[in-house]
Amino acid sequence: MSIFCRVRDLHLELTSRCTLRCPRCQRTSNPEQLAIADLPLDIVRASITRQSFPDVRFLNMCGNYGDAIYHPGFHEIIEHLKHQGFDLRLETNGCHRPQRWWRRTAEILDSRDRVTLSIDGLDDTNHIYRVNARWPDILDAVAALRGRVFLIWKLIVFRHNQHQIDEAKERARALGFDEFRIVRSSRFDGRWRGPDGTDPLKPSAEWVGERKAITERIRGAAPTEVRIEPRCARGENIFISAEGYLLPCCYAHILLRATITAPETAKRSDLWFERNRHMFDLARRSVAEILADNRWSELEGLWSTDHAPSICSRYCGVPADCDLSGPAELRKRDLRLVALREDGPEPGALVP
Ligand SMILES: C[S@@+](CC[C@H](N)C(=O)[O-])C[C@H]1O[C@@H](n2cnc3c(N)ncnc32)[C@H](O)[C@@H]1O
Ligand code: SF4
Ligand code: SF4
Repeated sequence: MSIFCRVRDLHLELTSRCTLRCPRCQRTSNPEQLAIADLPLDIVRASITRQSFPDVRFLNMCGNYGDAIYHPGFHEIIEHLKHQGFDLRLETNGCHRPQRWWRRTAEILDSRDRVTLSIDGLDDTNHIYRVNARWPDILDAVAALRGRVFLIWKLIVFRHNQHQIDEAKERARALGFDEFRIVRSSRFDGRWRGPDGTDPLKPSAEWVGERKAITERIRGAAPTEVRIEPRCARGENIFISAEGYLLPCCYAHILLRATITAPETAKRSDLWFERNRHMFDLARRSVAEILADNRWSELEGLWSTDHAPSICSRYCGVPADCDLSGPAELRKRDLRLVALREDGPEPGALVP
């Protein structure tokens, strides 16, 4: 019996390739975990179908280690997914693809699809975090996509762009975006310091995300003081990695990659995903077989003990004395959404 009653949101990592080197991305900050892979087209065609996922509301093409637009068969994949009747959400840096490539993308997508461009500043600052980004490429993408899909400008606030937030919002409006999203990142946690001992990317306190503070509290709390509210059991954010693993979430994939790379430093319960990795492999098993596997109940059993995998308490744990209704609320707290079109959907409705 599957612990995932219905898969409602599916998160696809089409590839672990990227052309950028954002310094706090998983692929750049933990390069030893990176294995270059493209989700094979035959796995996509056989596994990601309406029959396998009848309840999925949308497919989120973001990923942990790469950017979907660099999959060599990107257009064939999205054609297949649209034929299956899925609504798509693509999150991308928008660079190093020519305008004709974006025009083909726009022909395949439609108004039910959403494209989020990660643009962390203006033409003079975006490349400071988005290393190797090319501003004219982003404008080409925007020109092809605007009016065709629901288009979102997502800006992560850093010290070098925090003075540009309002200007970026107005630029987004003028360029024809439908929504502007401001993200308060939590990746300012002391691991990255400049020669003067301070974090060169860290914005002022109001723009630092709250997530880190909560996960620190969870780390320090006794297991009885944290309740785990598993998002995967609600069928949210079920993940397919570029290597073809079907996993309960994107964090399970990062843990899997970390434990494949360095099993000797992992705690025993964190090795659960590594030990069972063949069970998740879409090259060997069908979606139905994976979802129905009895071994999921082992994971479920760990959630109520002192031996939950570290990701489960960190990302789905809620401190008992915390006023959050659940872990997803934390993500929403670190987001500010601005609708740029009066006839657009309610901004909050778009957040998974
Ligand atoms: C590996 S990226 C994949 C998607 C795409 N390549 C992109 O960057 O938008 C996964 C997510 O991490 C986000 N991200 C990268 N650096 C970040 C940071 N320092 N703080 C918060 N989110 C970050 C990206 O914006 C994206 O939403
Ligand atoms: S664009 Fe996305 S995948 Fe590429 S390095 Fe930046 S955060 Fe990572
Ligand atoms: S972190 Fe654990 S409990 Fe949460 S979605 Fe992932 S596997 Fe499920």
